[in-house]
Amino acid sequence: MKKSLALLLVLALSISVFAGCGKKAVETAGGGDLPTIGVTIYKYDDNFMSFVRRAIEKNAEGSATLVLNDSQNDQAKQNEQVDLMISKGVSVLAINLVDPQAAATIISKAKDANLPLVFFNKEPSATDMASYDKCWYVGTTSAESGIIQGELIVEAWKANPEWDKNGDGILQYVLLKGEPGHPDAEARTTFAVSTVTDAGIKVEELELQTGMWDTVKAKELMDTWLSKHGDAIEFVIANNDGMALGAVSSLQAEGYFTNDKFMPVVGVDAIPDVLTKIEEGTMIGTVLNDAANQGKATVDLSRNVGQGKDPLEGTSWILDETKAVRVPYVAVTMENIEMAKKSYE
Ligand code: GAL
Ligand code: CA
Repeated sequence: MKKSLALLLVLALSISVFAGCGKKAVETAGGGDLPTIGVTIYKYDDNFMSFVRRAIEKNAEGSATLVLNDSQNDQAKQNEQVDLMISKGVSVLAINLVDPQAAATIISKAKDANLPLVFFNKEPSATDMASYDKCWYVGTTSAESGIIQGELIVEAWKANPEWDKNGDGILQYVLLKGEPGHPDAEARTTFAVSTVTDAGIKVEELELQTGMWDTVKAKELMDTWLSKHGDAIEFVIANNDGMALGAVSSLQAEGYFTNDKFMPVVGVDAIPDVLTKIEEGTMIGTVLNDAANQGKATVDLSRNVGQGKDPLEGTSWILDETKAVRVPYVAVTMENIEMAKKSYE
């Protein structure tokens, strides 16, 4: 035990010495003249982002050296990580912000170092994006996920009149919101509901609170809501799959999905655990948030601009007028589950 601890210490020391040698050390780690992409993930402990990270690693293999940082949901920590990467001489920054409002801080650091910058997953404001010509964004059109989720709800609600348990013609829902201020959370919350009301379905919001994208937090909320409202809840709308999973486990503990007790639950992301739930019948659908392609586009653009090339060179991505690559969302139900599975392989 002691021996292996000592060995670990020696290893950790030699790694930090290696990391301390600056530019050379970082670059040689990937071999030769490959561009070095300095990446931050807002926190490793995020279900969906772990798939984006995996896609980034896969796509960088053999074509770029990665310096990966877990910002542990702490913007101050992320700022320090960026400073350190700049001082070590990375060729480009690929940043998943902790706080979308912090884009300006990161942009000014990149500007000072004359470094190109690719944000991904958490979209900076249009003003921030326009403030630096060497910055780009890879993500989605946030509203699209809300609209698609709303369409899933409309279709399922219309096909299952018995889900209106109290027969009042109104869809009583609870909504698990992602991180407040996050463009995805705001847009999904707004558009999921407006799509349902636009289709002529009356709704009543019984509860809406943030579960911060998190399974455990969402389960706690759902536990409270179930004990407060019980069967008055007719639909669970979750801004992401992580939280939908929390709701499902709370519902299962209350005896749902056995005998005739049912609750429709929808999410966003299409992570593998949720695809399993759809197959089991404990979730009715989700919206594919294409981690594989978002990771690929992040690496493609970063690699190019890190070598002073046009961001799109050799790729088939398209930039919109805000310098953003927006990967489309896709509705996922039992009907096309195989497609979703492939995307998360
Ligand atoms: C969203 C995703 C969430 C969470 C969030 C982090 O796009 O749907 O599950 O990962 O990004 O910023
Ligand atoms: Ca009702």
